[in-house]
This record gives sequence, structure tokens and C-alpha cells, in this order.
Amino acid sequence: MDARDLRRLMGTVGTARGLRSVRTAWRRRCADAAGLPRQGAERARVPGAALGADPGPGGGVVRFARSSLLVRVAAGGAVFCGWDGAGPEPSYALGGSVPEVDERAVLEPDKDGGWRVVSERVLVVVGRHGSVEVRTPGGVLLRRDLPPRWWEPVAPPAPGDSAGPAAARWTQRSEVPPDARFFGLGGRAAGPRLREGTYRLWNTDPGGAFEPEDDPLYITMPVQLVVADAGTHLAFHDNSWDGRVTLREGEEGAGSGHDRPGRCELRMDGGPLRSWVIVGTPARVLHGWAALTGAAALPPAWALGHHHARWGFGSEAEVRRVVAGYVERGLPLSALHLDIDHYRGHRVFTVDRERFPDLPGLAAELRELGVRLVSIVDPAVKAEPGLAVYDSGAEAGAFVRDGRGRAVRGEVWPGESVFPDFTDPAVRAWWGGLYAERLAQGFAGFWHDMNEPVSFVAFGEPTLPRSARHALEGRGGDHREAHNVYALAMARAGFEGLRALRPGERPFLFSRSGWAGMQRYGGTWSGDVATGWPGLRASLALVLGLGLCGVPYSGPDVGGFTGSPSPELYLRWFQLGAYLPLFRTHAAYFAGRREPWEFGAEVLEHAGAALWERERLLPYFVTLSHLARRTGAPYVRPVWWRSPEDRALRDCEDAFLLGDSLLVAPVLEQGTDRRAVRLPRGRWYDTATGRAHEGPGQVLLDAPLSRIPVLARAGSVVPVKGADGRVELEVWAPAAGRTGGGVLIPDGGEGWESAEVVRFTTRLRDGVVTVEQEGAREVGYPVRVRGGEGAS
Ligand code: GLC
Repeated sequence: MDARDLRRLMGTVGTARGLRSVRTAWRRRCADAAGLPRQGAERARVPGAALGADPGPGGGVVRFARSSLLVRVAAGGAVFCGWDGAGPEPSYALGGSVPEVDERAVLEPDKDGGWRVVSERVLVVVGRHGSVEVRTPGGVLLRRDLPPRWWEPVAPPAPGDSAGPAAARWTQRSEVPPDARFFGLGGRAAGPRLREGTYRLWNTDPGGAFEPEDDPLYITMPVQLVVADAGTHLAFHDNSWDGRVTLREGEEGAGSGHDRPGRCELRMDGGPLRSWVIVGTPARVLHGWAALTGAAALPPAWALGHHHARWGFGSEAEVRRVVAGYVERGLPLSALHLDIDHYRGHRVFTVDRERFPDLPGLAAELRELGVRLVSIVDPAVKAEPGLAVYDSGAEAGAFVRDGRGRAVRGEVWPGESVFPDFTDPAVRAWWGGLYAERLAQGFAGFWHDMNEPVSFVAFGEPTLPRSARHALEGRGGDHREAHNVYALAMARAGFEGLRALRPGERPFLFSRSGWAGMQRYGGTWSGDVATGWPGLRASLALVLGLGLCGVPYSGPDVGGFTGSPSPELYLRWFQLGAYLPLFRTHAAYFAGRREPWEFGAEVLEHAGAALWERERLLPYFVTLSHLARRTGAPYVRPVWWRSPEDRALRDCEDAFLLGDSLLVAPVLEQGTDRRAVRLPRGRWYDTATGRAHEGPGQVLLDAPLSRIPVLARAGSVVPVKGADGRVELEVWAPAAGRTGGGVLIPDGGEGWESAEVVRFTTRLRDGVVTVEQEGAREVGYPVRVRGGEGAS
């Protein structure tokens, strides 16, 4: 029992839940003692020497003395490597189909008994003992995987041992250029640059609230994005088992003038050893990643406005009071979220009719005001015969079972609960149908929670036993493999269910937990970020890191989940949130208020300004949502996105690019009214003053309580909502002799009709800014030129 266990145990002593969580923990331990294969003696294995190779489409198979390696280059340039016969499928990450191979890639003998695959986009060099180098076509090294090592059970399972054979563990060490920086690994609270250390790959509810040093959190992914002078690459190990990644940065001119490469070691508890590597510019890499794992779901336009949530609204009257507070003050509000307290005794897919007697009526009333209702959906179903969801699930055999065929019971908000096995297609279909009840209540969007999945335990891991059985699409397996993809499969169930129930509408869904590919079904949010300045910083790290793992739509609980933020902290959080894709205030049951008017007149004024600025930028956000779907580029990007060669930018953790046009520099420290901003190359205008600043370099900008610094790239076109509600173009003057441009993807809707891209080019001619719209004689939108008010 560690300190976290002890804290958890103390917090629940003497309560009914506490007793049940002791029982759940105990059951979990017993289940695993009986149901998990014994990890007996192991034998280490390495590939051995290369014996020969068989060319195949896109590459071929290199045969080693004790293993084989399939190398295949896909048409888009992604490199697949699979050891021991592993192929790209089955996979929870891939977006439906395995990419086509690059027919022109050829396998050839290399020097010293090795082999290489030569293609237009990438060169793969396989060493004689099983190292794999990924190089640019010109031969510059991006990543070197050293020969892997497996630890395999020596003895087969004893006859009659139902737990089956123990898993083979494996390790792979890799080297990257000495100047490389690591990003990704899912949602990490410190970053976005990942510091040296060990990161676990096991989706985890940290319990209570998390701080930047808490790791792992709800979304882990074996996805590394590596940025170096030599180029950017993404490496994905398609394996959902528990694992650990240890990162060590390199050093140029280390020890007697030699470079020390950056290192990364991946240790997995089981599952296939297979990976994908995508190389190119950051934009190309993310495009390739989206091509591999699927395009991001497009949120309905309303989901890009402001959302207000809280755990514990308690009644319809309270919901009306909060919405009226926005309306009376003329503050825009797009959605209001109902948490578990609107359920009957916390039972999913039910309503507490005493407190919420007429949800459809409430939803219609709010809709008139332009406010959608969003519902929380937890996976755990109260184990209670007579409860419709439980009965129908039990009848369908939908719940996760143990090795002896009994439904696994856990402890969650409603009490003793069972858990749908979303890795079973039939269970997904059953669960997806349940959203009909939510739609009938008037809900327009869905907030998946507690899907790591969580089961409260007094000690041990707060999730299902590792021995719990899962369908895994018919292959069969246990929770060791299914755990990390549980929420991804739940998102699929919800998304597909909603598509079937409301074919004309794009589902709005976001989920606390997930895995590689989750963007296909929706977004995510920070989870229970601790209220405090460190939590504010963590909020940005999470959004940036997830974006680089292909999940473009996310945002924090503005104000933090716990306690009461100071007015200043609340305001700074609000100002950051206004520029993030999911802009939502939320707080825990026992936490203080989060309405913008609860923090005094000054905060209300400035938060109101942030809300209105978000409203004005909606056409830009909608455009970014379409671009994320089409190109894989996240809305929120690190400042090095277009200048990965600028090493100083790689370390920047306190600013971000919003699309191509804006650079946002939030205030993340208390008592600040001025802050340093590191600019990428090019000219940038301070949008508050219109002053021009030349990058690369650092500038000091005013950051009074009333606003955070936002800069616009010279030459850019930002579509905004004009005073009359119609789209207009804010054009930032290009630097002399330069051109610029931008795009608009107009779409105010919720349906599937495809929106066309409108492209603009900007020029500075004889001191006059001109704008052209591609394919049109005249620009079809009002234009407002800004910038050039004075240079520094
Ligand atoms: C979890 C969620 C949080 C929610 C609470 C109650 O802690 O992360 O957002 O309010 O559960 O449902």
C-alpha cells in the first residue's frame, strides 16, 4: 500500500462506500491472483544475425536467426515495422483500413550484411543484428531503434491452468539526434516538452485532483513526436498493454567533444512489437498521423462556443438561474452540462424526476436562448435487477466477466456496478442504442467520464482486475490488453449510436479517457485539474500535448476542478480558455462557484470581454475545426510548428499558435501585468496595439488584467464575426515585399454537408494592402485591414 492508497483509504473509512471499496479492492486482488498467468522463469531473446530477406510490396521481410522483421513503407511515407510476424492489424488505432503500400519502395542488400528499404519519402536501414534506422531520403538519421529484446516464459502453462500462458515482455531502445526534444505520450500534465524521466502507459484516474507532477493521467498513448534539426518524426508503438517510456535528452559535444544522442526506452508488459514512423515537417507528420488513425470528428459549430458545467447544479431552477445570469448580463453561452447529480441515484441513463421533472421542457426552453444541454455518461451500470439498463445489458451478456464467467463488480458513483465490454461489437451496438433515452430528454451533446475505467478501491489500482475477460473484437483477451482502449471503444459505441439515431447531425462527444485514434469520435478535456497556478499551466500542457497526438479538440475545467480560485486566477484561466477549442467552466461538487459574475465587477468586465472575443473569433474556430479534420493540424499548436528549426521555441511552454494566424501568450503567473513572448520568425502584430514586432526573438508585452497578449502574423487573414453577425475578414498587413493569406471554411451548422474552402491572398503594393479571393473577381466579405501602426 502506497501513500496514495493510504490517503484513499483514510478518506473513506467508516462510510458505506469505504467498506465497498475495501471489498472491491480485495476482490480485485483475489481475481488477479487466481486469474492471471503466473510470471514464472523467463528467457531473454534478441533477433540474432540476419540470414536473408524476402522482398514484398512496399519493402519485405528480413529473416533473423531468432525473429523476423516486416518492413513496409506506405504510400504516404509511413513506415511500418513488425517483429515476430506482427502485421498492422488487428489495431484499435488505425482508422479503418491499413494504408496502401508504396509500390515503388524496394528492399535491397546493404553493407555489412544488413538490408535497406529505399523509397521516395524515407530510407529505412536494417542492421545485421536487427537495428532499424529511419533516415531522410538524403540519408540524415532521424531515429535508430536498437535490436529489441524479449523476455519469454520458459515453461508452458500447467495443464488445466485456465489463465493461459504468461505474456512475453519486451524492450526497445531508440536513439534520436542530440538536439531532439520529445513531445506527446498522450495527455501529460507537465509539458508540452517532455522532460527526462519515466512515463507510464496505463490510463489512470489520479483520484481527487491532479497537479503537473501527477503521471500518468487519463489518456496515455505510445505516441512520441520528436523534433530535431534533422527533421520531425512521430513514432507510434501499436500496442495497448501497460508499459513505460523512459526519455533521456541528448547533448551536443558531450564528453570529449562527442555528441550524445537522445535516448528513449520502451518497456512493454506484453503485446506485439510493431511500430509506425512518420517523418516530415510537423504539419506533414500530423497529416500522416491523421491519415493513419482517422480524421478528427467535426464538432457541431455550437460546440465551439462557451460551455458552462458544474457537478451539483442540483435542480432545474438552479440551471435556469445560471443561464439567466448569462442572458441578463448579455454574455454568450452555447451549452450547459449536467453532471451525475441529475441522474436518479447516480444511475446512468436515468433522470432524478424530483429535481429535474421536465428535462425535455428545460432543454427546449434553453434551446430558444441558443443554449444546448450536454449530458454526462459514465460507463458503470448499477448492478441492480429491475434497472432497465442493467437488465437489458445482463440479458445481452454485455458486462465484463471474470475467468469463471461471472460479471466483474466494481464500485463507482451509483454503488456496486458492472461494466459494459465495449471491445465487443454487439455490446457497442446495445450501448449506442441507449443514447435514444438521452436524445429524448433533449440532450444535444455527450460527456463521457470515468472510463479509464474507474472502480473505486481502498488499495491497489482503481480499475478492473487485469484478469477480467474482454471480447477484443472476437479475439478474446483480458484487461491487460483492453484497459487502455476501453474508453476509445466506448467513444466508438456512443458515436456510432448517435450517428444511427440522428443521421443528420454530427455527434458532439468528448471523453475523459482514450487512446490513439480517439479523435475519430470526438475530443476530450483535462479531467480534474487542481485549482491553482500550477493547474493553469498543466491545462495548456495537456491541450498542446494531445494536439500533437492527433486529438485536436480539448480544453480544461476553467477555474480548476477543486476549491475556489482567486479572482485573478479565475480570470487568467478564463482568458486562456477563451482561445482553446473546448471552452468550458466546470467544478466539483464541493468547489466554489465558477460563473463569471461571482468574482466581482472587474473580473466580470474582463471575462465578458474574453467571452465576446471568443464569439467574434467563432468563424476562425470553425475554420480550424475543418482544417483539423482535413489536415490533422490541431487548432492549438506549439510555437515551433512552422519553425521547428528554432531550438529556443522547442522549449517554450507558455504560449501557443492558434491556427496559422494567431499567437496567444496567456498569463500563467500571479501578479503579472507584463510578460516575455518568444516570437517565431516573421513579423507579428500585437492585436491590442497594432504594433509590429519582428521575429525570431523575444519581446516584452503588456498583459494587464483586462487581456492576455495575442499577436497576429503579418499577412494573415482571420475570419471573424462582424457586428451584424456576418463573417468579415480581419487582414493583417503583410510585411513589405511579402505576400500572405488565409482560408475561411464557412459552416454554422450541425450537419454533414461539406463546406468549401475559400482562399485569400494578401499583398502590400505601394503601401496599400490588397486582398484577393481565389476564383472570384471580388472578395465576397467585408475586409478590415489592421497592422502597420508602427514597427519596433
Ligand atoms: C469526475 C469527472 C468530473 C465530474 C465528476 C462527477 O471526477 O472528472 O468532471 O464532475 O467525476 O461526475
